[in-house]
Amino acid sequence: MNTHLQLDERGRLRHLLTLEGLPREHLLELLDRAESFAGAGDNRSKKHPLLHGRTVVNLFFEPSTRTRTTFEIAAKRLSADVINLQVDASSTSKGETLLDTLKTLEAMQVDLFVVRHQASGAAHFFAAHAGPGVAVLNAGDGRHAHPTQALLDVFTIRRHRPDFRKLTVAIVGDVLHSRVARSDIHALHTFGVREIRVVAPRTLIPAGIETLGVRVCHTLQAGLTGADIVMLLRLQKERMVGAFLPSTAEFHRDFGLTAERLAKLAPEALLMHPGPINRGVEIGGELAYGAPSLILEQVSHGIAVRMAAMAMIIHDRNPVAKGRRTR
Ligand code: CP
Repeated sequence: MNTHLQLDERGRLRHLLTLEGLPREHLLELLDRAESFAGAGDNRSKKHPLLHGRTVVNLFFEPSTRTRTTFEIAAKRLSADVINLQVDASSTSKGETLLDTLKTLEAMQVDLFVVRHQASGAAHFFAAHAGPGVAVLNAGDGRHAHPTQALLDVFTIRRHRPDFRKLTVAIVGDVLHSRVARSDIHALHTFGVREIRVVAPRTLIPAGIETLGVRVCHTLQAGLTGADIVMLLRLQKERMVGAFLPSTAEFHRDFGLTAERLAKLAPEALLMHPGPINRGVEIGGELAYGAPSLILEQVSHGIAVRMAAMAMIIHDRNPVAKGRRTR
């Protein structure tokens, strides 16, 4: 996929489609900007005028709780107008194509599309066909990428373990179907993490993943021993065509993380999961909330990170008030 689409002629962020190939300084700027929005604690009442008069459309062709809602909250905190298009009640259900959907909404003077789609490459397709002043933010495309999830993951890690060069991160579970794993691997490498492991049965590891600079482990013991961060992944049954596993019970027996296993294999590790979680499958329910779990912190950080991404893409590139823009 053409990652150059993301930057404009001056090297500024034009769309956010993938973290692959995105320069470290852009990632750092996104995290630092997110830090300025997150502040020290609860700043719910704080509204920023940066996107006043701008229109953001959430276009989710797949279900979502965290990503869609935090994008909406983030856009509203930046004073944007937000439309959540109900895709199954839209004219796409009458056969309108992605391209015609894009062009129709563009005619309503939309500034930013936040797109989630089951097809890898859907956000790139939108970006390739978007008009000159219209930006696209990938909220998850197929198995390919989920850049804002990875940004909020590294944002969360940085708050607890700021020296990435000392970290061993274990990504455990359904790596094969996970866009989060791919984006996290790119982000963690960009920040110089010492070691990244992917931990799963052979059937859930994509062929050739070693080329991304990760160590493949096929047991929890090998994967978790010495890990500083354990990132669990959901079994994505909706993307499994055919038998990838004998059963979820067997997966839990061999790869499910319980408090007892974590205490034995990686007692100092912090626990993460992008959600939604499958209790009793990849994670014991007792591990979901409370230390060492950062799962709810990840959710909260999604707001600040998505505010940062939208501010950089829409406001920073063209801070002029709507109606006088230099599209
Ligand atoms: N992590 C994540 O993308 O969750 P949602 O599917 O609920 O948005």
